[in-house]
Amino acid sequence: EVVDARGKYILPGAIDAHVHFRDPGYTHKETWETGTASAAMGGVTTVFEMPNTNPPTGTVEALNLKLKSAEQAYVDFGIYGLLGEDNLTELEALIEGGVAGFKCFMGNTFGNLPSPPTGAILEGFEIVAKHGYRIALHAENASIMARRSKKLREAGRCDPLAHLDARPPVVATEAVSRAAILAEWTGARIHILHVSSGDELRPLREAKARGVDITAETCPHYLLLDERAYTEKKSLIRVNPPVREKTHQDQLWRAVQDGTIDMIATDHAPHSHEEKHRDDIWTTDCGFTGVQTQMPLMLTQVGAGRLSLTDYVRMTSLAPAKAFGLYPRKGALLPGSDADLVIIDMERETQVDSAKLKSKGSSTPFHGHAAKGAPVHTLVRGRFVMRDGALVTEAKGHGRNVRRIQQMPTPKPRNVETTTAAIVKKNRK
Ligand code: DOR
Ligand code: ZN
Ligand code: ZN
Repeated sequence: EVVDARGKYILPGAIDAHVHFRDPGYTHKETWETGTASAAMGGVTTVFEMPNTNPPTGTVEALNLKLKSAEQAYVDFGIYGLLGEDNLTELEALIEGGVAGFKCFMGNTFGNLPSPPTGAILEGFEIVAKHGYRIALHAENASIMARRSKKLREAGRCDPLAHLDARPPVVATEAVSRAAILAEWTGARIHILHVSSGDELRPLREAKARGVDITAETCPHYLLLDERAYTEKKSLIRVNPPVREKTHQDQLWRAVQDGTIDMIATDHAPHSHEEKHRDDIWTTDCGFTGVQTQMPLMLTQVGAGRLSLTDYVRMTSLAPAKAFGLYPRKGALLPGSDADLVIIDMERETQVDSAKLKSKGSSTPFHGHAAKGAPVHTLVRGRFVMRDGALVTEAKGHGRNVRRIQQMPTPKPRNVETTTAAIVKKNRK
């Protein structure tokens, strides 16, 4: 098969480490078929999918249900197993069953999965650390935000900004710091999802400096929207954690440029039109579609000179490949070397249009935003899944679980230099 790529860039396909495909359980919001079609259209060749489905991916039985749904996938995928208080005894079976990593909800969000007490998180980290798989964290403190939300609701606030007021940066910063300390103690590898505030950067930088194996992502909405957008976008902008003030956005951009933030992921979180357009902020579902809009939106930033194309590829492909064991350790191969590729046209001008997204829950605060730079062909393991801007429908079911090629590095012992655990152990010898 031949396409004319003159004047275009051939890049490794994007790896989105953070998507919610809702299947099984909430298939009116998204399915594996529609979610991965949206990915293919967005130049994304691999996704890592979150466990807050119904049933949640906390048992092998639930994992097998999800793997069955995922047989519809257009693109390759990894599945996050749930790390919760009630399923600590299942974690090793989930690894055996084919998860590519774990997700722990430290704060409450869609699906209402309880956030495990710190003791349970520590135990979970200890178990997973033995196997080297990365644990992704929704790092928000459930207790702080539950109290604040209650007060705001009782005071009759139901405007979109009430959502931001319920989750000030300390909600996230406290959880990032705690997660980093637990990772340092146990030797677990962790990934901080959706960094939304400048305040989280200090514990992140400090943990990295101490040698904690910690990676972090932010999302296009934190880089491209700020508090001023609430008036126009209303309930549509509601997302956990919230889009914050411009001062946070500026700090996030600096952290993208200095490498503190390793990845750009989307937190693709589709909900139906009705679920996203409610007058009462407390009943509006959080999050929005993203896997198809990331590339045009971020390539626009590349074109505007805010990010080099090389850095963009590092943050959307190389870094997630390394963090999740998809980067071949032997030989000179690079991500995309099994021909997971996207061909982009940096001159193509488009407008984000909810009606044109393949995602079922296609409401997005980016609707109407202009973009310059777009994916035109997507190949997964050498096969076109999008061609000339159109979905290749025969490629449905081409997607494979990345676990078959995943190579996590051998587990590291605890940070011998700095943790008191290590020092105590040494002194007892
Ligand atoms: O806004 C969000 N939506 N944040 C999350 O952490 C979960 C997600 C969802 O699943 O809808
Ligand atoms: Zn989250
Ligand atoms: Zn999420």
